[in-house]
Amino acid sequence: MALENIYILGIESSCDDTAASVIHNGNVLSNVVANQKIHEAYGGVVPELASRAHQQNIVPVVDQAIKIANINKKDLHAVAFTRGPGLMGSLLVGTSFAKSLAYGLDIPLIEVNHMQAHILAHFINEADYNKPPFPFLAMTISGGHTQIVKVSDYFKMDVIGETIDDAVGEAYDKSGKILGLGYPAGPEIDKRAKLGNPKAYKFTKPKVDGLDFSFSGLKTAILYFIQNETKRNPNFIEENLNDICASIQYTIIGILIDKLKLASKQTGIKHIAIGGGVSANSGIRQALKDGEQKFGWTTYIPKFEYTTDNAAMIAIVGYLKYLNNDFVKNEVTASARLKI
Ligand code: KG4
Ligand code: ZN
Repeated sequence: MALENIYILGIESSCDDTAASVIHNGNVLSNVVANQKIHEAYGGVVPELASRAHQQNIVPVVDQAIKIANINKKDLHAVAFTRGPGLMGSLLVGTSFAKSLAYGLDIPLIEVNHMQAHILAHFINEADYNKPPFPFLAMTISGGHTQIVKVSDYFKMDVIGETIDDAVGEAYDKSGKILGLGYPAGPEIDKRAKLGNPKAYKFTKPKVDGLDFSFSGLKTAILYFIQNETKRNPNFIEENLNDICASIQYTIIGILIDKLKLASKQTGIKHIAIGGGVSANSGIRQALKDGEQKFGWTTYIPKFEYTTDNAAMIAIVGYLKYLNNDFVKNEVTASARLKI
């Protein structure tokens, strides 16, 4: 029941990326992201600096998204924004901006849950991309979250497993810090993992019941391992970096796939999707694809630009909500701990 010619602006500012996107009837016309390089020097996101950078970036980023889409802001039908979860100071910038813009243009305002958006990114229209049928399982893996979600409909989602401590992206980033890599370390570990031996070193997997995850023990195990080895050989990291990265990645993938296998067995659902920044990881993408042969899964792996934080995923949720007349009043406030 798609309405014709619906233009939605999506705004994302939950963490350290300022992003805006225009979607026309589910097709992406523009998808602009300004990454905040400033956090690299600190080895992690500094909330205060993130909100300041959002304030600087938000107008040019939105302006660019509208220009690239080749529309006028008066053509927009609604403004969708990330209400949460995320860093409060960051969320406030996008929320306030979206409210003002919708008010100024006199068009509806749509709130979006960032984690739902990582999942619903699979419903962006893309050539050669099959959208998952309901119900499906979605594993959201990012710097702030690690969840397995049973998705029964666009807005009927149940979290059936989640991390009890660190998110998987944190496991990547904190391991990277131990190894002296820059922030965020996920992409670098991924690159090096391809060149190393995944079985060079063994890290034990955490024992967590059911579908929940834990990554803090792995981080500690890696820290002790590196401390011990560098005592014996101060050049241990430099000499073996690719093997260390490959072994860490192998362990993390094993943890994720084990839980997905269990979730699929428990629910009887074999349509499996991934989303979130860590789903850019080449090893995880390959392991998921392998699950098609090994476990009879049908898998859904988003394009790279829709894995890490982006506003196209916010705009697509905006479009789906627009079709349902699901709008919010201008009194809406950001919510740092918004749940799925
Ligand atoms: O979804 P996202 O952009 O932001 C959050 O909502 O957290 O995810 C960022 C996380 C970071 O921890 C980063 O290290 C990780 O995604 N990441 C990766 C890769 N690309 C990004 N982790 C592993 N391999 C990658 N290729
Ligand atoms: Zn995210």
